[in-house]
Amino acid sequence: MLNIVLFGPPGAGKGTQSARLIEKYNLMHVSTGELLREAIKEGTPLGQEAKKYIDRGELVPDDMVIGLIENLLDEHHEFSGIVFDGFPRTTVQAQELDKMLGAKGTDIAMMMSLEVDYKELMNRLVARSKLDDRSDDRNMSIIENRIQVYNRQTAIVIDYYRAQNKYLAIDGMGTIDEIFDRIVSGVELYTIKK
Ligand code: AP5
Ligand code: MG
Repeated sequence: MLNIVLFGPPGAGKGTQSARLIEKYNLMHVSTGELLREAIKEGTPLGQEAKKYIDRGELVPDDMVIGLIENLLDEHHEFSGIVFDGFPRTTVQAQELDKMLGAKGTDIAMMMSLEVDYKELMNRLVARSKLDDRSDDRNMSIIENRIQVYNRQTAIVIDYYRAQNKYLAIDGMGTIDEIFDRIVSGVELYTIKK
């Protein structure tokens, strides 16, 4: 299976590039952010609890997102692998993901981290805030806080995958097509090595 962690700060293009990746390689897209937003829309107890964190741009507690992933891995066997978008965001989540995949006889092939500078992240998210109704795009201070939370709590997950030789930095600046080409080169590199 080709299981990929697509990593990066808010606005890095994880969702945009995931959509292309799943097409090209017949993968399942798993975005914890989208799953949580669905739960909020449905008004489930988990959604109501998660909303408190998301609306402030903070991370939702580990056990809540790990539970979401656990449920998903039991389904969808028709795919060639999974793109994880926005998960894992802490080292605990990364460890749990390895355990869950290991129990299914598979693992993470690679972690690709989209690198985008702060100014460009802000430009993209402020532009999106005018089009969508995401509660965490509502104002500048929430957007800034999400980027800070990434730097303080999430960026460290890179070390976890680097130690396993699975980390690949991708230049996330440029057009969507240019960035996708770099991602595909990364995947090809992995499949050749295999
Ligand atoms: P999540 O939904 O994961 O959001 P995020 O990380 O803040 O990232 P975004 O979805 O905003 O950005 P993206 O990288 O997907 O970029 P996109 O492709 O949209 O998480 C939301 C919240 O849920 C978290 O803050 C947290 O509270 C909670 N949560 C989720 N997972 C969790 C977990 N595992 N643990 C704990 N809590 C969790 O692109 C952004 C914009 O830029 C778009 O408008 C796009 O069209 C545009 N764009 C994309 N590429 C380009 C380009 N190359 N050039 C110009 N514009 C571009
Ligand atoms: Mg996204």
